[in-house]
Amino acid sequence: MIKFNRIAKRYPPDITALADISAEISAGELVTVIGHSGAGKSTLLKLIPAIERPTAGTVLMNGQNVGALGRSALPFLRRNIGLVFQDQKLLFDRSALANVLLPLEITGFPHKEARRRAEAALDKVGLLARARALPIALSGGEQQRLAIARAVVHRPSLLLADEPTAYLDADTAQNVAGIFLEFHRVGVTVMVATYDDRLFPGARRLRLDHGRLT
Ligand SMILES: Nc1ncnc2c1ncn2[C@@H]1O[C@H](COP(=O)(O)OP(=O)(O)O)[C@@H](O)[C@H]1O
Ligand SMILES: [Mg+2]
Repeated sequence: MIKFNRIAKRYPPDITALADISAEISAGELVTVIGHSGAGKSTLLKLIPAIERPTAGTVLMNGQNVGALGRSALPFLRRNIGLVFQDQKLLFDRSALANVLLPLEITGFPHKEARRRAEAALDKVGLLARARALPIALSGGEQQRLAIARAVVHRPSLLLADEPTAYLDADTAQNVAGIFLEFHRVGVTVMVATYDDRLFPGARRLRLDHGRLT
């Protein structure tokens, strides 16, 4: 599904975030990306939806060279990907349900079908009963589950998450990790950058050290 072929990523002026990375991820796999702070975990994830582009090498998703896609092609690429990234903030002035509806409304989904899907996504993360709540009224773990519901509402085949259990206490982290395990169980490809990969038993590990795969 994903093929990194001799990837390098440099940020100006001369920061090497990734060096000579080659790896493949098959459909249906559960993969954790681990390594110290600054190892390149976030950068590696960002290459897949073309949030960042490689300086050298190619990233293929389903055979498509994502680093070479033009702007107009990106929405089509990202339609197949669910992102749980730190910078994908929840909207605090609207309900949990409205947060999950938003990605479908943007793509012009018929309202009734959008609502049905949004409720199904909330149900999957155990938040259907809180559909009307504002995010501020949700706990940290519930907010993270809401972010997951929003990421999967368009039913992507690939779910990418960047340290989704950071800032959560141990029990809540386990609960949130369990949701990713459940998506993996039903066939979604899951790739998670994490400090604590004990939360993701059975995952294949990609370990980064100063931008290199070890
Ligand atoms: N937008 C950016 N501009 C410049 N340097 C960056 C940028 N993003 C990340 N870096 C640098 O690239 C390296 C890898 O960062 P990152 O991928 O965020 O690592 P991790 O997620 O493992 O902590 C670090 O040295 C970081 O400071
Ligand atoms: Mg990071």
